[in-house]
Amino acid sequence: MPEKTTVSVIKADVGGFVGHCTSHPKLVEKAKEEIAKAKKEGLLTDFCVLTCGDDLELIMTHTHGTGYDKVHALAWNIFLKCTEVAKQLKLYGAGQDLLSDAFSGNVKGLGPGVAEMEFAERKSEPVLVFMADKTSPGAWNLPVYKMFADPFNTPGLVIDPAAHGGFTFEILDVEENKTIKLNTPEESYDVLLFLGSIDRFMVKAVYRRSDGEIAAVASTDKLSHIAGQYVGKDDPVLVVRSQAGFPAVGEVIEPFAFPHLVEGWTRGSHHGPLVPVKFDDARPTRFDGPPRVICAGFQINNGVLEGPVDFFSDPAYDLARTRAWKVADYMRQHGPFQPHRLSLDAMEYTTLPKVMEKLKGRFVSGSNGSHSKTVKTAAAKTTTATKR
Ligand code: F6R
Ligand code: MG
Ligand code: MG
Repeated sequence: MPEKTTVSVIKADVGGFVGHCTSHPKLVEKAKEEIAKAKKEGLLTDFCVLTCGDDLELIMTHTHGTGYDKVHALAWNIFLKCTEVAKQLKLYGAGQDLLSDAFSGNVKGLGPGVAEMEFAERKSEPVLVFMADKTSPGAWNLPVYKMFADPFNTPGLVIDPAAHGGFTFEILDVEENKTIKLNTPEESYDVLLFLGSIDRFMVKAVYRRSDGEIAAVASTDKLSHIAGQYVGKDDPVLVVRSQAGFPAVGEVIEPFAFPHLVEGWTRGSHHGPLVPVKFDDARPTRFDGPPRVICAGFQINNGVLEGPVDFFSDPAYDLARTRAWKVADYMRQHGPFQPHRLSLDAMEYTTLPKVMEKLKGRFVSGSNGSHSKTVKTAAAKTTTATKR
């Protein structure tokens, strides 16, 4: 049997240029230099280093399976070395996503985002890697639902016998740290029940029901939960297999023609549109945003990454961008008001509760007790958040 191929996408923000906007070219250079050594030594079959905003994206292929300690160690060490460069250049937030001093075999839970899948390569293996900045993994819920469960987006669900049996969604409850698997089409309302709550439930993986083949995998690490306080949004990645029984390439990227509202933007505290952009435009600027997504397509050839194709460079996405800029402008006019700013619950891990805590004693009980109750709850959460 031919060896299976593993695709490991591991990413981190280890220093921004300028502020939280982009990655410095010297950081990218360092990452490429280090990762090339690992390819030469035979650990990796191939790699592609990209950036999305201030995030360094390591796209790697190898034959060692998911969660392989040497591949995780490689990524961790690259991030450490890039942090050194970031420190030398006094880049912003050097080492921001490396939340632990101790690496113990797997970067999961230590800060970097991870999406990995292993499969036996088909006769031809198109794979798309989505990378987003200034948002959280819940941003994938809507597009992934559309790709794999909505026939208005993916006619293949109706037409292609290999896809007609539907897909299984594995959904993570980040609060409880539990997962649930639900089958579409018959449980699609249940899927929507959860995926609609983008701040708590996140699509983790998708499998084809007819043969259990992995179809998609997302990074679901929530930095705020790992760190117990806000340390930047987790800026997620998503890997999707395409064609011949999976959604066609066009069906995979079609959901992004609608720039849906996601959590993130400045201070990770606002709703804004997710804008599909070409690689060079993954530079969140206005109000530290709006959130961006890029898509790199590869043909995987015995582990070799033929690509990338920059999918959102297509002018067909111009309309989505124009719409997104308008939506961004509209949302911005709300200033500090919800629903532009996130709800108090979602702000629990930001610095906002600290400000509220200071004003706690200024409230006086009145005939209408409901206001003081709200503030008390938020203040109580401050204590919990800082203790975690
Ligand atoms: C959002 C983000 C930025 C920062 C903002 C404040 O993901 O990274 O919007 O939150 O620039 O940054 P600090 O707190 O580092 O001054
Ligand atoms: Mg940053
Ligand atoms: Mg980022």
